[in-house]
Amino acid sequence: MLTPENPLRGDYSRMRDDYTVDQDWMAYTPDEHALYRRLVERQTRKLPGYACDEFIEHVHELASDGIPRFERANELLGRATGWQIVGVPGLIPDDVFFRHLANRRFPVTVWLRKPEEFDYIVEPDVFHDFFGHVPLLMNPVFADYLQEYGRGGIKALSLGGLGYLARLYWYTVEFGLIDTPQGLRTYGAGILSSGGEILHCLDAPAPHRVRFDLMRVMQTEYRIDRFQDTYFVIDSYDQLFRETAQDFAPLYEQLRGLPTIDPSVTVAGDALVPPASLYDTHRRSAA
Ligand code: PHE
Ligand code: FE
Repeated sequence: MLTPENPLRGDYSRMRDDYTVDQDWMAYTPDEHALYRRLVERQTRKLPGYACDEFIEHVHELASDGIPRFERANELLGRATGWQIVGVPGLIPDDVFFRHLANRRFPVTVWLRKPEEFDYIVEPDVFHDFFGHVPLLMNPVFADYLQEYGRGGIKALSLGGLGYLARLYWYTVEFGLIDTPQGLRTYGAGILSSGGEILHCLDAPAPHRVRFDLMRVMQTEYRIDRFQDTYFVIDSYDQLFRETAQDFAPLYEQLRGLPTIDPSVTVAGDALVPPASLYDTHRRSAA
């Protein structure tokens, strides 16, 4: 939590007006590279059968020995979708974040967590931002979705829709599940960079897995300090792009009159998806 006793981590003293900083790759220590390597190894073992195919494919293309150089990733990204990553000192204001996305720039925190934060960290660091988010930016449809999201964010700020739009980001970009011909998978960066949630989100019996419904998502609250109680399942990135293409202004109006939904409950009309472990027997031992 960001409180006065717990201020923003990261060095904001040398940033440019748009909050970007140089990565200064030479400044990372051997211990930091080793820690990053351990994070990648732990997580890479968990991807088969859990991460969507696009993520696995692109995470390998982007692979590096230790903390990645943003410059090299930008060559690959530029060729694939025209996106770029830019270094930032840490969390940045909403309007700045949206403007970067709207211009196909993804802000990546330059610092790495401490060894004692191996399993859990509150703020995004370079491992979450790079390992979790950058692979899907190589996918053309997802890349377009995120740009549109940025544009929508700027618009939401003027319409008082930020809270609703933030839920959409949370339940797609950070914690989204996708139903594929091979079975249920995840494409959410918050899950893909988490050692524990990647198994929990697909296999655990407790969480609700609800088929994506735009208004339902924007009504649903979320917790930032524990595994999610509800996940939303898309069929394709095309679906995500299509269903969010409409003008959200009337939706924000409507949402103001609707109740919020607690993530620990389901509501009438929810189409529920069973845990992957129920219909995919080889996973039961892994869960
Ligand atoms: N279509 C939305 C609007 O008019 C913008 C948006 C696009 C939001 C994609 C989220 C994702 O505000
Ligand atoms: Fe994130």
